[in-house]
Amino acid sequence: MNETILIIDYGSQYTQLIARKVREQKVFCIVYPYNKCKEAISKNDDLSGIILSGGPNSVKEKNSPKLSKKLLELNIPILGICYGLQLICKKFNGKIGQSKLREYGHAEINLKKKSVLFEGIKKVNQVWMSHGDHIHKPPKNFYVTSLTNSNVIASIENIQKNIYGLQFHPEVYHTKNGVKILSNFLNKICLIKKKFKLENFLSNKIIFLKDKLKGKKIICGVSGGVDSTVTSYLIHKVAKNNLYCIFVDHGLLRFNESIEVEKIFKKKFGNNFIKVDASNLFIKKLKKIKDPEKKRKIIGKTFIDVFEKEAKRIKNVDYLAQGTLYPDIIESVPFFEGPTAKIKSHHNVGGLPKRMNLKIIEPLKDLFKDEVRELGKKLKINNKLLNRHPFPGPGLAIRIPGEIDRKKINILQRVDNIFISYLKNKNIYKDIWQAFVVLLPVKSVGVMGDERSYSYAVSIRAVTSVDGMTADFYMFNKNDLTEISKKIINQIKEVNRVLYDFTSKPPGTIEWE
Ligand code: XMP
Repeated sequence: MNETILIIDYGSQYTQLIARKVREQKVFCIVYPYNKCKEAISKNDDLSGIILSGGPNSVKEKNSPKLSKKLLELNIPILGICYGLQLICKKFNGKIGQSKLREYGHAEINLKKKSVLFEGIKKVNQVWMSHGDHIHKPPKNFYVTSLTNSNVIASIENIQKNIYGLQFHPEVYHTKNGVKILSNFLNKICLIKKKFKLENFLSNKIIFLKDKLKGKKIICGVSGGVDSTVTSYLIHKVAKNNLYCIFVDHGLLRFNESIEVEKIFKKKFGNNFIKVDASNLFIKKLKKIKDPEKKRKIIGKTFIDVFEKEAKRIKNVDYLAQGTLYPDIIESVPFFEGPTAKIKSHHNVGGLPKRMNLKIIEPLKDLFKDEVRELGKKLKINNKLLNRHPFPGPGLAIRIPGEIDRKKINILQRVDNIFISYLKNKNIYKDIWQAFVVLLPVKSVGVMGDERSYSYAVSIRAVTSVDGMTADFYMFNKNDLTEISKKIINQIKEVNRVLYDFTSKPPGTIEWE
């Protein structure tokens, strides 16, 4: 087993980033909400350290989240970040001061005392602050190790107890030596020896799945996307002909996608690959629906209904395998039941209705996207499949803001195909993490030849990212933009305007809905 770092989420917008940064150090970690500490401890017997995240509350508020005694009883190193630090301070009877002004943004810290946490970094460091409260007086036996320029306590520690606290955010890019600080905590304080290796993950997973799925029938939803493809190949390795792959064509796929997916999967899984054309059902259910969350919910539910029907046909199915990844779980809060603000309901997260009597298996649920691609390589999945840009479960429905119908879907498929083919031909596709077109619910006036046009506007979206949790818009050069726009408008008569979406995530999300 790996040595695991437990991250306790107190609702910070940066909790996922902490997990990401720990994983980048090749250390396995898990995130649990603050109200599930007991569960976190009972389910993981290999914990080597704890990180307490930041959070939007003030420890001085009466009902603010508390630091569980159970965590302290483990007697393993603890690092509190921002709210986490203040919880430590409060628990050990230090004093917290409340600032009127929230300190937010860049700050400079000066190291005041030698600390293992700060080994290998300079005396003066740029850091990122985001807090209202600060430590007025550290608890007894806790030493101040750094101060900001305005003399706010930036870090404290108690070496005997192995407890450390930072007022700033080491996980954020703007904290210049943040990676080094986290690495010191993991390697020099938690003394992590066994690093997280995908080969180990794979061999352990295979042993686990062999045992769990022995003699069981499994259905797996495949979409042609990386996550479900890797899931199905992985399960197939142990379950062979007991695995049935179901491909639901919801009519919201990309141009020609349905045919291509069918070809590839039929070859791998033979008669155990089942394609269901449910497009009429989905389009009917989505008729006149404008609200993005409603669309997502309808699609998610209809998906499950179609699966249920198919599962009954196969008979005696025990499991449904899903390609859920770790960020999907953290982002879909009702499932996670944690404090992090809800962004979107991912349609592949959330479990199945009880009546289905199917157990769920999600072999990738601890991994990030880039790790899944790596795993796919180890499973010898065709590079073309692995390097495809991610495609969301709700498909084109969330790329047509507002009401959708077959006509709009057809326009979007054709425009998107022109855009993506251009990126592939110019060899730019591989430099972009995800690219697609959004069909806007707006028509505008244009002029084509001598004629007035009144047609749809589309927006092209292309982002670079590591795992979709944060993203930057891709900067096209003018020639490419000109070519893309020309091709779209010349070939698609229903479109007369092409916009370029240059919003990063955050503050935007990658998809429009
Ligand atoms: P957002 O729009 O939240 O998207 O920035 C982040 C990544 O997740 C994909 N996405 C989804 N994938 N089911 C999925 O399987 C969903 O419901 C879903 N919603 C968004 C999105 O395409 C991007 O890669």
